[in-house]
Amino acid sequence: MAVKINTAFLDGYVREDELKTIAPQVALAHDALHSGTGAGNDFLGWLNLPRDYYKAEFARIKTAAAKIRSNSELVIVLGIGGSYLGARAVIEALNGTLYNSTAKKRGNPELYFAGSSLSPSYMNEVLSLIDGRDYSVIVVSKSGTTTETALAFRVFKKLVEDKYGDAAKERIFAITDKARGTLKALADKQGYETFVIADDVGGRYSVLTAVGLLPIAVCGIDIDALMKGAAQAMTDFAQPDLESNACNKYAALRSLLLRKGFAVEMLISYENSFMMMNEWFKQLYGESEGKDGKGLFPASAIFSTDLHSLGQFVQDGSNIIFETVVWFKNTDCDFFLENDADNADGLNFLSGQNMSVVNEKAFLGTLLAHTPKGGDGGKTPNIILEVDKLAEFELGYLLYFFEKACAISGYMLGVNPFDQPGVESYKKNMFALLGKPGFEVQKAELEAKLGG
Ligand code: PA5
Repeated sequence: MAVKINTAFLDGYVREDELKTIAPQVALAHDALHSGTGAGNDFLGWLNLPRDYYKAEFARIKTAAAKIRSNSELVIVLGIGGSYLGARAVIEALNGTLYNSTAKKRGNPELYFAGSSLSPSYMNEVLSLIDGRDYSVIVVSKSGTTTETALAFRVFKKLVEDKYGDAAKERIFAITDKARGTLKALADKQGYETFVIADDVGGRYSVLTAVGLLPIAVCGIDIDALMKGAAQAMTDFAQPDLESNACNKYAALRSLLLRKGFAVEMLISYENSFMMMNEWFKQLYGESEGKDGKGLFPASAIFSTDLHSLGQFVQDGSNIIFETVVWFKNTDCDFFLENDADNADGLNFLSGQNMSVVNEKAFLGTLLAHTPKGGDGGKTPNIILEVDKLAEFELGYLLYFFEKACAISGYMLGVNPFDQPGVESYKKNMFALLGKPGFEVQKAELEAKLGG
């Protein structure tokens, strides 16, 4: 198994007999998922996707990525929520947080995300990058109507058309529903190459479709290995028990911790490049679990960086947090610390050491500080997910691990993990306040409430 759960730092919080007691509940959730009898069962396409993905579309993704790589110095990916987080998470995890600065050296185009906010300054920043350069645009929206994405696409579509004229359609790629939505209609009319987000795959479960795979492949990442990792996870997590199935065990542990009052799960990594994986995780779990007054609040941190900001709270603040640490045991990219003759900084005790060893000691030291084991007053339960290394196969495995554990967790909570009704409220209000036709009554009501 590419993900192994270490529960040594849950001592005093979760007992073996509690795991035995909760196992039948996990098995029920597991069965509901596999038999398609649970809530939101029309959104289960992701479950067998690593095996049953559409091979012809996969080949087309590779061809489109090669075309973009050959004619573009820069790529703009437009999308929000599940329509961008997975791609960004995988790209940063594997190519690093500074991947745009190193892109040229690696023979990759730079790749920027937009359409994931309504910030005018961010829009201007991205626009300033394309001046005088050859670029392509990938627009991603399952519904094809999301305001943030549609608005950004309106801007970039015009720019591509102004620059490339008739050849604009060679540089715009649309990933959307197979039939519905404004984007699909527009793509068909303009002749853009399109990729389909299947009806039964929701946005936040779509990273292993063209939504994630096209931008990821554009960045030179091996999408075959990513899919292989996910396929292995699919096989490894097929049985409903907790002993053989790390994914189910993780769902059981987080459920038990929630029941004991730990309402916040903080996903931790000691790798900077995992930062957007943290964001992907937060969206996946936040939108899937947080409904009907239930769910764990998903938080995240990069250690040791955030030990200097959030560490104090975790060590000594309100006792509501548990940590889930994704620990990569090995790295292909270590750094050797040399001896310094002066030793003015007093750090020669680290000479001859690899930086990964220092990072590991920080991890172990933090575990002892944050949990009762160390005797420093730490009261934060820690689940450790041990992964061999941060590479394509392992990341694909991890993506599937988190997706499946999320669905099972949702069923255990008694919610539909595949909808997001709560996201509609702000949209309704925003449209009304902006004077969208059809929202006239709401506009007056909302302005009165705002005191306007
Ligand atoms: O997970 C989800 O379903 C959402 O986060 C969507 O991905 C997000 O709202 C964007 O939607 P769309 O792809 O329709 O533009």
